[in-house]
Formats: sequence, C-alpha cells, structure tokens
Amino acid sequence: MRRIEREDAVQITIEFEGQPVTAQEGDTVAAALLRAGQWTFRTTAVNGRARGPFCMMGVCFDCLVEIDGLANSQACMTNVQAGMRIKRQQGANDISLGAVADSDEGTAP
Ligand code: FES
Repeated sequence: MRRIEREDAVQITIEFEGQPVTAQEGDTVAAALLRAGQWTFRTTAVNGRARGPFCMMGVCFDCLVEIDGLANSQACMTNVQAGMRIKRQQGANDISLGAVADSDEGTAP
C-alpha cells in the first residue's frame, strides 16, 4: 500500500490503547490509526470478531471506537485532535442517555 504523506502537515500525538500515535492535523481518527498500522477498531457484540473501517464515509459503522470516554464514535467521521485518547470498542456498548434515564425515575406506573 502506498502512503500519502502531506509534507506541510502538522504532526500531533494521539493515544490508542494507551500508546502514543503520531497523526497529521486534519486526519480523521480512522486515517490516523490505519496509517499507524492499526486494523482492528472494534469487536462484534455477538462473537467478538475483529472489525475495522470499511466504507470510510460514515455508513458501515465498522470503525466504532471509544474517543475520550465516548463510546460508539465513528472514527472515519471524527477529526483527530492532539491528546485524544482512543480505545477499541469491545462488543456492544451502553448507549443509554443518562439525562433521559434520570428523568424517567419515578414515572413508571
Ligand atoms: S468506516 Fe464505515 S462508518 Fe466508518
């Protein structure tokens, strides 16, 4: 695979699974991680199989990662920012909305 490097790109550091990764400002998280040789971004909920970016345009959801504690983040649709902490998403993650859940307390019949 041929790498496309921008000579004028500003280099920044993000973190993936606790390890520093050099990225270029303007990259998506997916592009930065793929450039760093990372292919597994998440595992499936049913059988734990590895998944990585496929469409790179926000359609397939195979690039879901946890970014700064926020699960279900699409790596291909998120630009890198210096200091970002990214983790693989393991299986299904909780997508409950805390504010909604809290407001529902005590309203059940
Ligand atoms: S790679 Fe398909 S949604 Fe991100």
